[in-house]
Amino acid sequence: MEFSNVYEDAKRAEAYSKLEFPGTYYLAYRDLPEIIHTHVKGRKAIDFGCGTGRSTRFLKRFGFSVVGVDIAQDMVKKARELDPEGDYRVIREADFRQFARGAFDLVLSVFTFDNVPTMERKVQNFKGLGILLKDSGRLVSVVSSPEIYTHEWASFSTKDFPENKHAKSGDNVRIVQTDIEDKRPVVDVLWTDKSYREAFKKAGLKVVRTYKPWAKESEPYKWVNETWIAPWVIYVLKKCNKLEFVNNAVEAPIKRN
Ligand SMILES: C[S@@+](CC[C@H](N)C(=O)[O-])C[C@H]1O[C@@H](n2cnc3c(N)ncnc32)[C@H](O)[C@@H]1O
Repeated sequence: MEFSNVYEDAKRAEAYSKLEFPGTYYLAYRDLPEIIHTHVKGRKAIDFGCGTGRSTRFLKRFGFSVVGVDIAQDMVKKARELDPEGDYRVIREADFRQFARGAFDLVLSVFTFDNVPTMERKVQNFKGLGILLKDSGRLVSVVSSPEIYTHEWASFSTKDFPENKHAKSGDNVRIVQTDIEDKRPVVDVLWTDKSYREAFKKAGLKVVRTYKPWAKESEPYKWVNETWIAPWVIYVLKKCNKLEFVNNAVEAPIKRN
């Protein structure tokens, strides 16, 4: 099945713009302040896949100077409406040429890579984002865990898509967001931890730490599976130094005919 970004759609953008941090989404954001505090020095950030600006506004609240970028015009239009003073830009796929190399302390990406198909496009984007990082910079990427597509959640349902159980890394999977008016399923790309690690390596990025946010019974939400299966995975990444980059290339030599 050909993949197309479901967020390039005015109705979806309108519905998504009303979403803050209910239920399962709360878990994606809950630990970010602490994670960012631990790993990131400096306050200059780019929010890759800013959507309607929720993640960008989140960073601004923590004192970051942020530019939000996205490929979907409808989403960026909404982001600008919600935050007229903010800096939101529509970009073309993996085209970051308008930004200086090494300009950012933090690249944040919340859910964006769920919607980037194929190893080639993931690597192109990770490579491009890596170039934007300062040497001390960090890329924090929040993505869906493969289990999100085969279970029920406070904010999502997948029970109508039993075929998700047979999906392999790179396959399209469907999920319904229950907190928003637009109940059309979202099509994401399932991507395993193993495939992410392969993509990071190819892009010259190194995992500093991985987090899995489990829910706590004491939290004021009607958790479904969140207390025992983490719906999200959070990768903190840095650029490989030259030696690590060369070692990666030796481990995975480029195939020649
Ligand atoms: C689920 S939304 C998340 C938006 C925002 N980060 C948040 O947490 O509210 C994912 C966004 O990633 C964007 N996106 C998908 N592929 C992209 C790409 N290659 N480059 C930039 N943005 C992309 C989509 O258009 C969509 O707005």
